[in-house]
Amino acid sequence: MNLSLDNIIKQAEDAFESAKDSSSLDKAKAHFLGKNGVFASLFKEISTVSSENRKNYGAIINSAKKKVEFLLSQCRDRLLNKELELRLSSEAIDVTLPGRGFGTGSIHPIMRSWERVERIFHSIGFDIVDGPEIENDWNNFTALNSPLGHPARSMQDTFYIDLKDKNNLQLLLRTHTSPMQVRHSSINKPPIKIISPGKTYRVDSDSTHSPMFHQVEGLWIDKNISFSDLKGVYTSFLKCFFEDDDLKIRFRPSFFPFTEPSAEIDMMFNTGANRGKWLEISGSGQVHPNVIRNFGLDPEYYMGFAFGSGLERLTMLRYGISDLRCFYENDLRFLRQIRY
Ligand code: PHE
Repeated sequence: MNLSLDNIIKQAEDAFESAKDSSSLDKAKAHFLGKNGVFASLFKEISTVSSENRKNYGAIINSAKKKVEFLLSQCRDRLLNKELELRLSSEAIDVTLPGRGFGTGSIHPIMRSWERVERIFHSIGFDIVDGPEIENDWNNFTALNSPLGHPARSMQDTFYIDLKDKNNLQLLLRTHTSPMQVRHSSINKPPIKIISPGKTYRVDSDSTHSPMFHQVEGLWIDKNISFSDLKGVYTSFLKCFFEDDDLKIRFRPSFFPFTEPSAEIDMMFNTGANRGKWLEISGSGQVHPNVIRNFGLDPEYYMGFAFGSGLERLTMLRYGISDLRCFYENDLRFLRQIRY
């Protein structure tokens, strides 16, 4: 009896030892210690043992079973340790590796131009002013010599807002930065010498138009500011912006309700893909006397010029970009190319 129990213990030990993972160990456990396992049947045999030997028989089997359980727990611990080690080594983190680093962002090309334009105009004495993108009808149109029903209003497809301001004026998304002329000049005295860059909105969308775009407005009002000042200021701005002294610039007669005379400013590069082509870059003109009056100033004393240039257009020409939509698609392959 003892001999065969020793045998069983040995067999169990061998079976546990050779188990390669917890599931084969569980199988071995079931074989020896399970409900229908070796020990269960040994206990069943107790009924065949004579009553005086029963106690002894039970004790011997119990102690053998304890041994097998102990062997099992030892093997189970070893196996768990091995599995843990394996997992640790396969999922190891090499703390000596350099980090992945943070992707540093960069300034958006439009903002680069925005800042460039500000620096240039600031260097020649222009202040920089800022205003709201939700404007009223007076500042955006009426004060700029485009009263309700004026055909020039339809040159700018407008996003109207279903609200009026506290003076009962229709609200809208400003279609240009020109309302800043009115805002600033109604509360400041000449000399007025400002630029005002910002976002503008029109119902327009294709490869050269976006419903949201950027303009920079310029305004210089004083006693003696004439069209020749506009020519001088804008020409030197363009040469500075494009870092190109060979730029050709022309002022082509045009129409804006708020300037008279009005001019479209065109420029031409001497080199590069656009070489020899006139490119439209800005609207401009001498501020209309009606508009000066709407500023609350006397056009007999004050005169000056204004211009409104597209920041997208300036940026596209500076970097040779042909599709304006690139600016708003957030494609890093595009944005990463513009770093200076
Ligand atoms: N506001 C005009 C536009 O958006 C541009 C402009 C500004 C023209 C100032 C003349 C003077 O088209």
